[in-house]
Amino acid sequence: MNPPVIAFFNNKGGVGKTSLVYHLAWMYHDLGLRVLVADFDPQANLTAAFLAEERLEEIWLAAET
Ligand SMILES: Nc1ncnc2c1ncn2[C@@H]1O[C@H](COP(=O)(O)OP(=O)(O)O)[C@@H](O)[C@H]1O
Ligand SMILES: [Mg+2]
Repeated sequence: MNPPVIAFFNNKGGVGKTSLVYHLAWMYHDLGLRVLVADFDPQANLTAAFLAEERLEEIWLAAET
């Protein structure tokens, strides 16, 4: 298996990286592809976008302990 890898990088913030990756991931999923999204931004906004509020809270609380 040799899956294609698409990397999104830009030093500037607020240019739409997170939004674009989020929507592209769903688009590829809807086209029937299996998608793995790797969030390398320590702010983890992309990760948060995929999770329900309750799950996010669980993770944050677990990280504190
Ligand atoms: N195509 C777009 N049109 C309008 N607003 C957008 C678009 N893409 C992103 N945004 C908005 O711009 C802001 C920054 O986008 P974001 O994806 O978080 O950028 P980045 O990850 O590069 O910092 C967010 O408020 C987002 O909702
Ligand atoms: Mg971002």
